[in-house]
Amino acid sequence: MSGNRTFTMIKPDAMSNGHAGKIIDHILSAGFSIKAMKLVHLTKSQAGGFYAVHKERPFYGELVDFMSSGPIVAAILEGDNAVESFRTLIGSTNPEEAAEGTIRKLYAENIGRNAVHGSDSDENAAIEGSYFFSELERF
Ligand code: RTP
Ligand code: MG
Repeated sequence: MSGNRTFTMIKPDAMSNGHAGKIIDHILSAGFSIKAMKLVHLTKSQAGGFYAVHKERPFYGELVDFMSSGPIVAAILEGDNAVESFRTLIGSTNPEEAAEGTIRKLYAENIGRNAVHGSDSDENAAIEGSYFFSELERF
């Protein structure tokens, strides 16, 4: 059975382009509720830890530099079939391939600066949520 929580980040490009409010509205309008939310500016080491699964990939250095380049909003979301339905809402990694009306189609600049993160499994949603939020904060 699929879980009802996922984890998201509004990435530095969307923050500096002034899209955070519209993205949060889009998420709420789609029926998700916010269980935890905070604004943080990751260090390189913290961004590297979050994306450690990609450390052998050619884009890892660029990804870590980008994700630590400015503040982000991190959040735990609740909704039916949350991981899959949120990834549908945000669209493909590359905004050029993202469906019309998706968050990445609307707000992402390119594959590297793609506006939002969404967990890819229930297991990773739980790991990622606890990377940012204490047990007290993710009740
Ligand atoms: P995310 O984890 O951020 O939600 O994105 P995703 O699942 O759609 O994509 P993933 O394969 O997990 O990649 C993580 C992030 O790395 C950047 N990336 N750049 N330059 C490139 O070819 C490339 N490929 C991936 C993207 O910012 C992607 O969201
Ligand atoms: Mg991913």
